[in-house]
Amino acid sequence: MEIKTAEFVISNTDPSLCPEPKHPEYAFIGRSNVGKSSLINMLTNNNKLAKTSQTPGKTQLINHFLINENFNPWFLVDLPGYGYAKAPKKAKNRWQGFITTYLKKRENLKCVMVLLDSRHEAQKKDLEFMEWLGENSIPFVMVFTKADKLSSAKLNKNLTDYKKEMLKTWELLPEVFTTSASAHMGKEAILKYIESINTGISQ
Ligand code: GTP
Ligand code: MG
Repeated sequence: MEIKTAEFVISNTDPSLCPEPKHPEYAFIGRSNVGKSSLINMLTNNNKLAKTSQTPGKTQLINHFLINENFNPWFLVDLPGYGYAKAPKKAKNRWQGFITTYLKKRENLKCVMVLLDSRHEAQKKDLEFMEWLGENSIPFVMVFTKADKLSSAKLNKNLTDYKKEMLKTWELLPEVFTTSASAHMGKEAILKYIESINTGISQ
């Protein structure tokens, strides 16, 4: 699938004010600074679509983008990062509240793309979040980011270690993607996966 058009629709903190759930939807989530907004821009060929920043905590709202409006449209959603240590506790609780409501209630949500920094070993917060998705029967895939920042040997080692860690609690691993926004890596595989769900080939 090619992304022909990508348009910002609405930002909010109230899941009930999200756009009418008439298209399949894919939400990008992960720790602050993991590269969610950068990946979205890479996938859509538009560096100005989602706002990126070197400072963690840039994305603070549920941001809806409409993709391919004129042909098999779908929604792409940029969510605030979790685990931003410097955020005030009150703000953290508020984000957690509206993100969990969104994830549990959004009826057209087909898959959550959980972004994980490929440079780091498995982090408790990410493992717990994926477990929570599993407990709530919310489908998700793992998307490793910033693959350009390490050698292919180190990348392979980190991915193998991560999978081993997951297999301690999961019987089956979710789909895994490796990406780099700067090196334009992983785009085709992710778009193909989304297309397969949109067209009903898988699931
Ligand atoms: P929040 O909105 O704060 O949660 O962050 P985010 O997950 O949306 O991260 P964002 O896309 O803003 O990227 C954070 C930083 O990482 C920026 O400085 C990006 O330039 C950098 N970055 C993101 N993806 C990549 C990548 O694939 N490779 C490299 N080298 N840097 C990246
Ligand atoms: Mg962001």
